[in-house]
Amino acid sequence: MKTKINFDINKLVRPNILKLKPYQSAREQMSDKNAILLDANENPFPVEYNRYPDPLQRELKMKIAEQKKTPVENIFLGNGSDEIIDLLIRAFCIPGKDSILINVPTYGMYEVCANMNDVKVIKVELDDEFQIDIPTVLKKSQQAKIIFICSPNNPTANLIQQDLIVDLLENFNRIVVVDEAYIDFANDAGFLSKIDNYPNLVVLQTFSKARAMAGIRLGMAFMNAEIVNILTKIKYPYNISLLNQKAALKALEDDSVSSEIKAILQQRDWLISELQKLKIVEKIWPSDANFLLVQFKNHKQVFDFLKKEGIIVRDRSNEPNCNGCLRITVGKSLENLMLITILKHLDKRISEYDFFEIQKSY
Ligand SMILES: Cc1ncc(COP(=O)(O)O)c(C=O)c1O
Repeated sequence: MKTKINFDINKLVRPNILKLKPYQSAREQMSDKNAILLDANENPFPVEYNRYPDPLQRELKMKIAEQKKTPVENIFLGNGSDEIIDLLIRAFCIPGKDSILINVPTYGMYEVCANMNDVKVIKVELDDEFQIDIPTVLKKSQQAKIIFICSPNNPTANLIQQDLIVDLLENFNRIVVVDEAYIDFANDAGFLSKIDNYPNLVVLQTFSKARAMAGIRLGMAFMNAEIVNILTKIKYPYNISLLNQKAALKALEDDSVSSEIKAILQQRDWLISELQKLKIVEKIWPSDANFLLVQFKNHKQVFDFLKKEGIIVRDRSNEPNCNGCLRITVGKSLENLMLITILKHLDKRISEYDFFEIQKSY
């Protein structure tokens, strides 16, 4: 069912982008693999990477379309989701005038990209359960061009309730981005199947998380074809290297990813059960992702101790409603075991110290 939202892409896009005549590679129009290529001033001698990559990534998009059961024309690929976030802001927000809305705490790059583009950032805090505060978002988003929703959210690890996202899609007639970087770890189908119903919906996914390919920098976005065309116009012509297109195609043939996800989820449960036993742990937030947000009694001491022992976690304690919180990625079983062993050590030491301090006060 399509929504009746009043959505006009031509009124949303920055006027200069609407008028923009993009750089065109002669090969965009051509699919004959045997053609003699004298158009791009390359070195013709046959080494593996002497040719520019396909600017439209046709083979890779076809493979992704097949796996995601989504038409090719609804897919846009970026140099990581980060490039797509930046392109969306550049396509729709006029520097010094327009704004985006984010639901904090959330992934930091929405704000960084907005700042880079001199675009204002309206921040609305997530509620006590880290869900979206719809009335406030609707009220404050009057001037915003894009609302970013991260689900499962980084750093809070939870899925955003589907009905809340639908509420925004149906009541905000500009762009709603649902960043699903961690969706493969959640027991939820996400919003990919809904791009046909909502012309204002952009779903972001990535090869960096469950696909275990953060090194190749490949982000995927799914949306109505009109928005794909706008982003295609403003991206750098060869934004996905040939090396990366090949690596991604190879990765898509490998289905061991589901067993890896299963292992990560088992490890996540084990980590939760072990962390719960520690006195230094105040709260573990429920997780739909491959990381945990954990509130510690003395997070700074925990962070420093782990660092000294060679374990790096992310301090998120300065984020709204994340007092004392560290974000911990679920690693391999041995890594998780090391983490817990070290934390147990610290837990014991702090408990003994507390006991000693209590004794002294009597
Ligand atoms: C929510 C979220 N979106 C996007 C990204 C970046 O993805 P990519 O590696 O595809 O740029 C991250 C990275 O941590 C993330 O947490």
